[in-house]
Amino acid sequence: MSDGPETATTEAAPGGELKALIAEARALLAPAKEAFSGANDLKQLEDLRLEYIGKKGKLSGLNRRMGKLSADEKPIAGKVINEHKAQILDLLKSRKEQLEMKALSQQLSGERIDVTLPGVRPARGSLHPVEQVTQEILGIFRDLGFHVEEGPEIENEWFNFDALNMPDNHPARDMQDTLYTERGHVLRTHTSPVQIRSMKKLDPPMAVVAAGKVYRHDSDATHSPMFHQMEGFLIDEDVSFGHLKGVLHEFLRALYGADVKLRFRPSFFPFTEPSAEVDVWWEAGNKWLEVLGSGMIHPNVLENGGIDPENFSGFAFGLGIDRLACIKFQIPDIRLLYENDVRFLRQF
Ligand code: PHE
Repeated sequence: MSDGPETATTEAAPGGELKALIAEARALLAPAKEAFSGANDLKQLEDLRLEYIGKKGKLSGLNRRMGKLSADEKPIAGKVINEHKAQILDLLKSRKEQLEMKALSQQLSGERIDVTLPGVRPARGSLHPVEQVTQEILGIFRDLGFHVEEGPEIENEWFNFDALNMPDNHPARDMQDTLYTERGHVLRTHTSPVQIRSMKKLDPPMAVVAAGKVYRHDSDATHSPMFHQMEGFLIDEDVSFGHLKGVLHEFLRALYGADVKLRFRPSFFPFTEPSAEVDVWWEAGNKWLEVLGSGMIHPNVLENGGIDPENFSGFAFGLGIDRLACIKFQIPDIRLLYENDVRFLRQF
């Protein structure tokens, strides 16, 4: 027989190889633990897996050496190697979980929303300067006990002119450049027709204000073909010009301040008699500014509204809201109000 030296050794020390295998398997555990817990990413972990339990890894190396063991020893060695393989798999698994958790929490903290960061404000619109002034004036008259009415913008000629003491041939019809629509209708040239509509609808005493769009064939820095007026009137027994002065003074004090200076200047309107225009002293400009037209309601107008001028009297006034807005906000050209330029509108 030509026995090799190894066989001789094995035979010389029965059980020696088994012991060596078991010792080597055990000896793998401590460095494996250290290596796995030191792995910092999944790539390193995979390298360690190959190193320990891959096909060409350390445990497979031990496995291959089992061929030299006796039939009794093989299952013992196999069991020990499998137990160690399982332990190393556990190390791998728990380290993998740790690394995945770490990656997840890094991702989450990177994505966290900082609720203390200032937010992005949604853009908010604001009321148009004309609307702001309208609301303010209506509010003042509401406080004085006036009631708010409305009328149509396409108005019957009778309400716009005839009922207001301006018959067909009346020169006053030429005072305003009227925009005619069709069949006896116009774009109302003022809010005064609301006087007639309200008189027909309500019983005296009445105190009414009405605001809205009016139209005239006119356009320059101080005139726009569409603009806004506010009409006000009051009807009761024994209403005098003194009442008119008192109410307008109160209104202008509320709008411009307690020390507002105003003057009543004789004027003419077909629907009021006597009539007056009211000017307000503009300190910065050192001049009087005309702000409204007014007067005692003409008896013919009361009659056209179905009210007996023998028993009732009243005063009326009309003002241009756009003009008041231009004065209030110091806007030099009335047409700026209607260009819808947000750079302009944003300032109010
Ligand atoms: N309607 C007149 C205008 O448009 C204003 C006015 C109203 C005058 C009421 C007197 C009374 O100019």
